[in-house]
Amino acid sequence: MLERTFIFLKPETVMRGLIGEIVSRIEKKGFLISAAKLHKMEKKEAEELYMMHKGKAFFDSIVDHVTSGPVVLMVVEGVDVVNQIRKMIGATDPGKAEPGTIRADYAQIAKDNVIHASDSQESANRETRIFFLSQELISYEKPTEKKYLLS
Ligand code: PPS
Repeated sequence: MLERTFIFLKPETVMRGLIGEIVSRIEKKGFLISAAKLHKMEKKEAEELYMMHKGKAFFDSIVDHVTSGPVVLMVVEGVDVVNQIRKMIGATDPGKAEPGTIRADYAQIAKDNVIHASDSQESANRETRIFFLSQELISYEKPTEKKYLLS
């Protein structure tokens, strides 16, 4: 069943010139990009995004980090996409991420782990709503999907 999830490329990804490489992996998997924008996160938005971590030692650090520079926000659509994207990106700590995952391939430490992806459909819906209006999510089909990916 097709689902949508929320991801964002962290400031270090933009600064390291890795936007294209990461987006390319998502496109090659066949996922469809429903929305995308470059964005400078407000402190309030970051605090809302990471609200479940409030009170943890790294909370201020993660808020500072994701507001430190531009990020790329995206909504991505695909089959079981919440789980599949989490598998593609790998464990939070790149040192523990499986080889071949995005974090294992492009990162070294948990803070600068390149990409965030929602951990459940409920989180995906909540996180999407922080950054996108419903009319900003675009529904369309690519001929390749029907013929070569989802048949
Ligand atoms: S927990 O407590 O296990 O749920 O937390 P964890 O999954 O390990 O991490 C949640 C997010 O916090 C980020 N993180 C940090 N950011 C900044 N500084 C430090 N020290 C730090 N430690 C963890 C980590 O990258 C996770 O961000 P997301 O966006 O979810 O990948």
